[in-house]
Amino acid sequence: FKTPKPTNEPVLSYAPGTPERAALQKELKELKSKEADIPMYIGGEEVRTGKKIRISPPHDHKHTLGYFHEGDASHVEQAVNAALGAKKAWAEMSWEHRASIFLKAADLLAGPYRARINAATMLGQSKNAFQAEIDAACEFIDFLKFNAAFMVELFHQQPESAPGMWNRMDYRPLEGFVFAITPFNFTSIAGNLPASPALMGNTVIWKPAYTQVYSAQVIMEVFKEAGLPDGVINLIYVDGPVAGDVIFNHKDFAGLHFTGSTGVFQQLWKTIGQNITKYRTYPRIVGETGGKDFIIAHKSANAKELATAIIRGAFEFQGQKCSAASRAYIPDNLWPEVQKYILEDLKNVKMGDVEDFGNFVNAVIDERSFNKITKYIDEAKKSPLVEVVAGGNYDNSKGWFIEPTVLLAKDPMYATMCEELFGPVLTVYVYQAERYEEALELVDSTSPYALTGAIFSKDRYAIELAMSKLMHAAGNFYINDKPTGAVVGQQPFGGARASGTNDKAGSILNLIRWVQPRTIKETF
Ligand code: NAD
Ligand code: ALA
Repeated sequence: FKTPKPTNEPVLSYAPGTPERAALQKELKELKSKEADIPMYIGGEEVRTGKKIRISPPHDHKHTLGYFHEGDASHVEQAVNAALGAKKAWAEMSWEHRASIFLKAADLLAGPYRARINAATMLGQSKNAFQAEIDAACEFIDFLKFNAAFMVELFHQQPESAPGMWNRMDYRPLEGFVFAITPFNFTSIAGNLPASPALMGNTVIWKPAYTQVYSAQVIMEVFKEAGLPDGVINLIYVDGPVAGDVIFNHKDFAGLHFTGSTGVFQQLWKTIGQNITKYRTYPRIVGETGGKDFIIAHKSANAKELATAIIRGAFEFQGQKCSAASRAYIPDNLWPEVQKYILEDLKNVKMGDVEDFGNFVNAVIDERSFNKITKYIDEAKKSPLVEVVAGGNYDNSKGWFIEPTVLLAKDPMYATMCEELFGPVLTVYVYQAERYEEALELVDSTSPYALTGAIFSKDRYAIELAMSKLMHAAGNFYINDKPTGAVVGQQPFGGARASGTNDKAGSILNLIRWVQPRTIKETF
């Protein structure tokens, strides 16, 4: 059996005069012209509670995009019942039909819904057109198409049979329901977390971040239009602990598919551990969590390439990619030149609204995030241990704007070298070029995270040494490239240590977590 061979969705340019640019501008205008009234979706029903929460663009917080209806514990219970009610028919549906629904969703996103999902991501999460396109359109479409193919590849993994028997593996869905908790920063991740367990025959309760509801609702519309049966994915907007209290106490809770911060994930894991005897089955726990992603350069690296990688790796989407570089280790022979290029390039970087397609940097997601990041910047301005090399200004009068900021740390253990800020701040530590090995040890020991990392070098021995010394420091390791922009099917994505369970989103390793394999031996 085969699904259509997946290929990566081409990234559209949105250059002036292109049809995609015109369609996107029309959609942005249309979305901004009305206030959305966004319901939860439970058992196929639109649920409006009347408890409305306002949505505004992070770059224009006085504008109202609409409201969503917040639910409470009773809605979580309804969602659990809907998921359990839909389970039998969905689990028994043949995999071709399940795949077909998600492949159709991919087609809808590539065609009629492309402008809408991108516009909703631009307005709701403050991504520029290019960042929205590579996330909400391309990466999401890729997840859906590649996962269908990976599912079939998994089903083909079958044991050998000795004469007189037939051994086989039956990849059953989990017994119970899956809880998908998703972050604000990638629309594709928000869509993939409920979709991948559902593809494998599970029913799901999906709780997005409140700051991503605006595009989450479009995802749900696409799933419905693609023919997803009622109750298979139930989308709820409920405070995390309130939802968790119902779900983690339920005997049929069978899996957590989480992406978000490390602290929240560790707390959820503890809760699940405390409740372990309540469950019918050991729940699958899959979590992609925080990061403190690095770039290290060897003295042989090209300064210009390095500076470009630093700017793109650290500041695209305001440094709010889980993969974004936030600490860099540069040898002293290269730093003066790298610094010159960074300063020159940052002069040309424009910051502002998403509707001006020339803006490279937009706003950070919300006030909480703005306050957290600017506090670190203010402390850096006062500290003798660090110097502000570029940026450092911010303005919240219209939106949550923070300039791309480069700090130069004298102490390699300075707070912004170790802690996750999740914003447009990069801290550089300049090491003595001859002490490369020590610098690698520093990279490895400075933070508890291990999501992405990059080595820039023209010397193959230096690359080899980095790969060995940094064996466990990154789940996605880049040689002479920025540490962001993993493509589904090409660089399976996920981190280790405090960055996650490393079940590689958009790969067979992830899908295998959503099945309960049964080994069958039949004797003839
Ligand atoms: P967050 O941890 O604040 O929220 C993530 C989700 O968890 C949201 O839906 C939130 O409502 C929910 N949540 C929070 N507390 C909860 C609780 N007690 N019970 C149940 N749910 C709860 O993260 P965020 O700000 O949305 O996203 C940014 C974080 O996500 C960063 O730490 C980033 O590194 C991480 N991230 C990691 C990856 C990866 O692949 N490793 C990808 C994207 C984002
Ligand atoms: N694909 C995204 C990146 O690597 C998560 O930046």
